[in-house]
Amino acid sequence: MKKILVTGGTGYIGSHTVVELIDQGYEVVIVDNLSNSEERVLDGIEKITGIRPAFECFDLCNEAALENFFKKHADIRAIIHFAAYKSVGESVREPLKYYRNNLVSLMNLLKAMEKHNIRNMVFSSSCTVYGEPDELPVTESSPVKKPESPYGNTKRISEEIIEDFIKAVPEFHSIALRYFNPIGAHPSGLIGEHPIGEPENLVPYVTQTAIGVRQQLRVYGNDYNTPDGSAIRDYLHVVDLAKAHIVAIERMINVRQKKPYEVFNLGTGKGVSVFEIINTFEKVTGVNVNYVVTDRRPGDIEKIWADPAYANQELGWKAQSTLGEALLSAWKWEQYYRTHLEKD
Ligand code: NAD
Ligand code: WQD
Repeated sequence: MKKILVTGGTGYIGSHTVVELIDQGYEVVIVDNLSNSEERVLDGIEKITGIRPAFECFDLCNEAALENFFKKHADIRAIIHFAAYKSVGESVREPLKYYRNNLVSLMNLLKAMEKHNIRNMVFSSSCTVYGEPDELPVTESSPVKKPESPYGNTKRISEEIIEDFIKAVPEFHSIALRYFNPIGAHPSGLIGEHPIGEPENLVPYVTQTAIGVRQQLRVYGNDYNTPDGSAIRDYLHVVDLAKAHIVAIERMINVRQKKPYEVFNLGTGKGVSVFEIINTFEKVTGVNVNYVVTDRRPGDIEKIWADPAYANQELGWKAQSTLGEALLSAWKWEQYYRTHLEKD
């Protein structure tokens, strides 16, 4: 059985990817310091798959802990590196915290991979590296711009670190996946996104408002140059996103790649506005969302969506779920969390 290390595997996208890996017969070991997730996510994974993945709780910035880990797990075939801090707003307030965590953990990991001869890494990048694009849809060759936030900048710098590392270390392969906006949850409703404190992202804010945890959703601007005036993004179901990691791993392990470093956009190819999110959510759930239109959020871009053609052709990957399915799964998870997990 092929063993895969999933860093950040108790987090939102990581946990969904772990489920898909287990379903595909991989052996998974998770490393996470639980800075933005909880150990009981493992219970959800176990309920869904029937298997409890191995879990080691430590900080990837701790080189000694990482070294001990690899001594125990010498047979890892590939790494999916999700672990990072991801709050855009917090990164503006505490940039050094973000540069340190996101870059030191990556460099420690690359160093350990070289030492232990582990050659394959999938890296979680983000559409944030495109900034406000000049042309839509965004392809992998669209210009990378200096992102607005220190968080976004850690993704741009991380990609450059990996690219430089690969030039120096032959045989190393990496695929950087630039996610657009992941939303939703596993259809079982047993795992999902649970932001600590007030959510920054739209869909958790919608579900928390719908369930009554938040009083009112703020729609950040209705004066954008878009059909309904609200900003446009490319929202993809987290399970579709998780599946892309399996094909990326298989490409690295099984296919002799043409290039040692590859970048793929992962999105649906469709732009969706904030009002369309609210309307679709209300339609599929039958629950109204109390909202108010406010000023634009500083740093927000107007519109972005992916051209996923390269991922379609090269990885054979395509986002399958509809927006309604994704929003319904987010709602199912919100309800499960509030009735079963919150009170524990
Ligand atoms: P998440 O916060 O839910 O998961 C990240 C996990 O990494 C958390 O469980 C956290 O505890 C862990 N972690 C953070 N720093 C660590 C460290 N130093 N050592 C060990 N564990 C550590 O985030 P997510 O939404 O699942 O995102 C996963 C990855 O995808 C991140 O790299 C993120 O930047 C990237 N990404 C996310 C989105 C999104 O909208 N969610 C979009 C684009 C890219
Ligand atoms: C989506 C839309 C908001 C909240 C962020 C990061 C990006 C990437 C994905 C990691 C925007 C609007 C939001 C609310 C709202 N993450 N909105 N009211 O801004 O596209 O991207 O997450 O890499 O780097 O910047 O996602 O979910 O915050 O916002 O009106 O309460 O919803 O203005 O138009 P965003 P988001």
